[in-house]
Amino acid sequence: MDNRPIGIFDSGLGGLTVFKEIADQLPHESLVYFGDSGRAPYGIKSRETVIKYTLQNIRFLLTHDIKMVVIACNTMSAHGYEFVRKSHDLPIIEVIGAGAAAAVAETRNRKIGVIGTPLTISSGVYQKAINKLDDSIEIYQKACPLFVPLVEEGQEWWENEITYSIAKEYLTPLKLTGVDTLVLGCTHYPLLKNTIQKVMGEGVTLVSSAFEVARVVKKVILDNNMQRDPQLGPAYHYYTSDSVDKFEPLCSAILGKTVNSAKKVDIEGY
Ligand code: DGL
Repeated sequence: MDNRPIGIFDSGLGGLTVFKEIADQLPHESLVYFGDSGRAPYGIKSRETVIKYTLQNIRFLLTHDIKMVVIACNTMSAHGYEFVRKSHDLPIIEVIGAGAAAAVAETRNRKIGVIGTPLTISSGVYQKAINKLDDSIEIYQKACPLFVPLVEEGQEWWENEITYSIAKEYLTPLKLTGVDTLVLGCTHYPLLKNTIQKVMGEGVTLVSSAFEVARVVKKVILDNNMQRDPQLGPAYHYYTSDSVDKFEPLCSAILGKTVNSAKKVDIEGY
């Protein structure tokens, strides 16, 4: 038994899609979330900057005596994970392996599309992870740099006409390749799911890693006997590096419950 919380972090709001799945699949666990909205988007910055941010975010979460950390961000999983894995001795879970495995299980015509931030796409991590599982699969990738700022801007942007036009611009070439499965290789993108599905058409299955990552977290907890005592009940803590007033309504919308206890962090101090 281990009553300490699980730490989860992202460049902003997107990691809350992973948080929600973990809270659903592990209802007794306490969770601490950090979203670095003040410095988002990460995916258009340099690899060095993303590694630095990954380390700072973990350092902050470690001040909460966490038992495990989930990198709920593809960009940091692609560039920071290998780096931080070596320098920390608690379990660190990344999101790419789970998303790749889910896409391979889903495709029927062996054509998979992957969308993500420029830094995730240029790293080629999904291509490697998917082809390691099945090297006959054809992969078509596209970076969608405007999607993260649109999500961070607020809910009214997630399904409006402008976002639809941008999605059409990015996704039409992918649609024309005939992929039957599309990996949402950024944890912000499930929040644009309806818009993305509208462009790709109902015949294309959208894969988000959130569900699979939560399964991995659950397995690690159970295999290592790290469960929290169910009698204690879970505690949830939310932190953002930007305005709490902006974070709380969006966090509440994503989680489907009122969040009014978020705190602001000066992340540059870590
Ligand atoms: N949610 C992050 C990811 O999965 C977004 C990164 C960004 O801020 O650009 O890659």
